[in-house]
Amino acid sequence: MANHSDDSGCTQAVEGGRDLIGEGAGSSSRTVSGTGFRTLDDFDVRGKRVLLRIDVNSPVDEKTLRLVDGSKIKSSVPTIRELLDRGAKVAILAHQGRPGDYDFIPLNEHAQYISQFTGRKTRYVDDLLGKHALRAIDTLGEGECILLKNVREFPQEQAKKPADEHAASALVKTLAPKFDLFVNDAFGSSHRSHASLVGFTAVIPSAAGRLMEKEVRTLTRVFMNPKRPSTFIFGGTKFADALQVIETLSERETVDHILVAGLAGYAFLWATGESIGSKTEQLAKKDVTDEIMQRARSLMKRHGGKIMLPADAAIDLDGERVECKLGEIPADGAIKDIGSATIGKFSEVILSSKTVFLSGPPGVFEKPAFCKGTCELFNAILASEAFSVIGGGHSSAAANRLGILEKLSYVSTGGGALERLMLGKQMPVVEALKASAKRA
Ligand code: 3PG
Ligand code: MG
Repeated sequence: MANHSDDSGCTQAVEGGRDLIGEGAGSSSRTVSGTGFRTLDDFDVRGKRVLLRIDVNSPVDEKTLRLVDGSKIKSSVPTIRELLDRGAKVAILAHQGRPGDYDFIPLNEHAQYISQFTGRKTRYVDDLLGKHALRAIDTLGEGECILLKNVREFPQEQAKKPADEHAASALVKTLAPKFDLFVNDAFGSSHRSHASLVGFTAVIPSAAGRLMEKEVRTLTRVFMNPKRPSTFIFGGTKFADALQVIETLSERETVDHILVAGLAGYAFLWATGESIGSKTEQLAKKDVTDEIMQRARSLMKRHGGKIMLPADAAIDLDGERVECKLGEIPADGAIKDIGSATIGKFSEVILSSKTVFLSGPPGVFEKPAFCKGTCELFNAILASEAFSVIGGGHSSAAANRLGILEKLSYVSTGGGALERLMLGKQMPVVEALKASAKRA
């Protein structure tokens, strides 16, 4: 373990870390099962102090400031439970919101959720680096767990710096000496190079948590080496974001079909010269600059064979669902869903696929009249033999509402992180974990 003795405060923690290496992870076999990082399998954590970073960032009700949904918190439960069952002394670091935003709230309620989901009391400590936090860490017993204050209270947390610079921050210098192991399970934040996400990996032994491990393994396989035919479905409202991902995926030989629905699909059609009715055009215009238009057109020229856009639409006429062919959409009819012809074509492709990925709902699924597209594409996914993966908060909300969340093969917790992974870009947190494994 080179490079760790320069900061006096960290030496002790690193030395302690040497004892952590599990039996099966002797010096020659300290490789990390294909991911390049270490996991909980590589460490014996009994009686050790573990600093665990998770992503609990959840939607917050603007009026009550209470959490709207606890599903993201649930996703790190396997890691927390395993650490506690194996006798670790666990302190959790996490963030909620960003300073200045209404959802930048303390983590009391998150601690309640963790306690409820794990069945173990997780005490919230309203302090991060002060004497209360340090005392709470010092007095942790085996199998006990605390949650520290919102880590974005630390002013330098969100500074975009590399791992070694964050390692010199007060956050890392104060907390690292207290711990034997750092575990990062915050996949939803793995595209951020923030102090609590990458700083500790530079100075104490580090591992990926179970969620991080599962997300990186599953998603890397789906994006880089999917079972074929593979189909990628994009919906939602953000066409410019979707376009960037579609450009990248369409270049990959392993990607067979790209289906675009939602407002993104109609904005795409409009960018390529199709009329979508003036009401929807107003919305599409916000996202389609001249440059986007050029890119969309050139993409269709290069890869139009694998990209399918909507063939018809369901519009909202005084709250009623009315289906129209393209070119026949009335000026005052806002498109809220894909129509039956599109559903039929897309379903056919889905049914013959071996991998299906969906990001962003195909229509305004919250309104019963416009849920048909979302509902039927999900039905096709479930009726197919495909390994099914969905990502992004809105897609999970749609699947949850339809009661089929549990029936999908995999539901990712990633939003921005997932997108970055899809684009094949480096993930700072994954890189930091890999660098830590190499140093060991
Ligand atoms: C998220 O929910 O997107 C992650 O927790 C990261 O949060 P951020 O987008 O505020 O950095
Ligand atoms: Mg975000």
